[in-house]
Amino acid sequence: MGQSQSLTVYRRSLRGPAALLTLGAAAIHLSAAPDHLQEYVAFGGLFIVVGIAQAFLGLAAWLRPSRRIFVAAVLIALGCLVVWTISRTAGLPIGPTPGKPEPAGFPDLVTSLFEVTSVPLLLVLIVRGPRQAPDRRRGWLGAMVPLAVVLTLLTFLGVMTGLNPLPFAVDMSTAPPGPGVTPLQMLTEPPGDEPVKAFTLTARVTQQAGHQVWTYNGTVPGPELRVTQGDRVRVTLINHLPAATSIHWHGLRLPNAEDGVAGLTQQALAPGQTYTYEFVVKDPGTYWYHSHQDTEHQVPKGLYGALVVLPGQGPTYDRDYAVAVGDLNGSDAGDRIGANGLLGDLHLSAHPGELVRLRLIDAIQGDMTGFPELLTLLGAPYRVIALDGHDLNGPTDLGPELLPIGIGQRYDLAFRMPSGSQVKLIDNRPRRGSQLARTWTVTLGEGPTPPPVTVHTRFDLATYGTTAPDEVAQRQTFDESRDLVVTNQHGFRYGSEQFLHMFNGRTFPETQPIIVRKGLFVRLRFVNNTDEYHPIHLHGHVYSVIRKNGRPISGTPVHLDSILVGPHETWEGAFLADNPGLWMLHCHVLVHAAFGLSTMVSYEGVSTPYSIGSRSGNFPE
Ligand code: C2O
Ligand code: CU
Ligand code: CU
Repeated sequence: MGQSQSLTVYRRSLRGPAALLTLGAAAIHLSAAPDHLQEYVAFGGLFIVVGIAQAFLGLAAWLRPSRRIFVAAVLIALGCLVVWTISRTAGLPIGPTPGKPEPAGFPDLVTSLFEVTSVPLLLVLIVRGPRQAPDRRRGWLGAMVPLAVVLTLLTFLGVMTGLNPLPFAVDMSTAPPGPGVTPLQMLTEPPGDEPVKAFTLTARVTQQAGHQVWTYNGTVPGPELRVTQGDRVRVTLINHLPAATSIHWHGLRLPNAEDGVAGLTQQALAPGQTYTYEFVVKDPGTYWYHSHQDTEHQVPKGLYGALVVLPGQGPTYDRDYAVAVGDLNGSDAGDRIGANGLLGDLHLSAHPGELVRLRLIDAIQGDMTGFPELLTLLGAPYRVIALDGHDLNGPTDLGPELLPIGIGQRYDLAFRMPSGSQVKLIDNRPRRGSQLARTWTVTLGEGPTPPPVTVHTRFDLATYGTTAPDEVAQRQTFDESRDLVVTNQHGFRYGSEQFLHMFNGRTFPETQPIIVRKGLFVRLRFVNNTDEYHPIHLHGHVYSVIRKNGRPISGTPVHLDSILVGPHETWEGAFLADNPGLWMLHCHVLVHAAFGLSTMVSYEGVSTPYSIGSRSGNFPE
């Protein structure tokens, strides 16, 4: 090959990539245009103009190359890069958030990469001119085909993510503010003279056992908040984290404005700020609290704790322990489980003959399957006296069984300490590989350890205890009945490829909210069409469980805030809509919720001043 010929081939081989890069940027700009139109019309218009110009120039560079075309293409690429850099660093002086840097997503990065790469190619082409080689070369094809495949793939991903962006600001109100509409901020606890229990929780980054964790008051879990039914609880949250945060009071029926959900009931609390929650605790039982901003990441970093509401009256226990079991797979402590922060064995003291109440809280994040922990109590007969904080009727003595506790759920066990030996709680969840390190136990008392036994029976809440009247579960008719069918599949959402989890084929916030009115009896049927477990949690209300796999539950009434729906199971639950507001209904496998398995129970005529999405900085999941 002669000198001039190889130069021509080189020139020609630059033209293809330069054209593809320009066309790719065009496609991504156009795919992102609708979203930007919604955010700010001028930006959307700019995306369309730039996209069309780049599409034209890319085609022209390929089919009718000329120096002028190359010059125009390079100017547009440089212009885009300058505007993009400013918007991602200092922030543009105009737009919906002037002077504030915008977050960069995957489509941004691909477009910028394309433009940065196209600039030197186009410059060479401008210098050398657009002359073409007369013949095709194998070497040219050999390089061009793989390159074209890579660029097309990147363009495809850029376009798909551009079409499914992170929302800017989604308003979950059921009505715009106006006459007859309740602003959510008004739904607070009315003043009263209940005894006040005040706490301060400082969220900050801490070292615990050599690991960096996010904590309330320096420990994982955070301090146990123990109050009495009827107390007025006042919690001041101080945020010393490097990120915005919030606290949700899981399982409590409280006024909507105190629910702690970022973008719904409050603005996520920025670093350095302070926020006070105040509510009266109506229902005794075992609850917990955790962050509800970027929940998927903040809870596994350590932001959770136990909340115990003691009954105003009722049986007393010699020992009353709450144990929050959680892993720290969001921190650098890795995929390990600890009971009350202790990796390994937690030892609690108890003397022979004492009556013990053990409150177990599953704050584990686990894995994609959502598989529940299978707890087994060895060494004494015991009763399951409450689920999700609510007492069961006529609980009977149980021997060693597998107690399936889903993520977010609580089990309260009661037993009498035997004389001269320990009681031990172990977790029989099957484990493989890296999960083998996830061992934890709780041991009570002194003496010999109870011998291990092989257990097969799974505790079934649908047949335990004795029946009793239940105003909600025993209704013949309901004012509102809804099916929520859970499915999963891969797809694009929030600017990335995700393992989408859907209610009725849609991901949050596009899921259809369940609109209710005060006084309605609402029945929900959860149909799980996946191989995973989904503990479906409702804020601010309590479900009465009605049916499991089509069969009415036959034992005690069961009141839960999280119904664990196993693979291909169907569960029915109902509740009385008696707590106006905007409430989340979501799977408590936080990664499922983050992948879309979330919806709302929303009362008619409630407006919120907050919104969800990148511009608001609120990410409830
Ligand atoms: Cu435990 Cu929506 O939360
Ligand atoms: Cu909750
Ligand atoms: Cu789930």
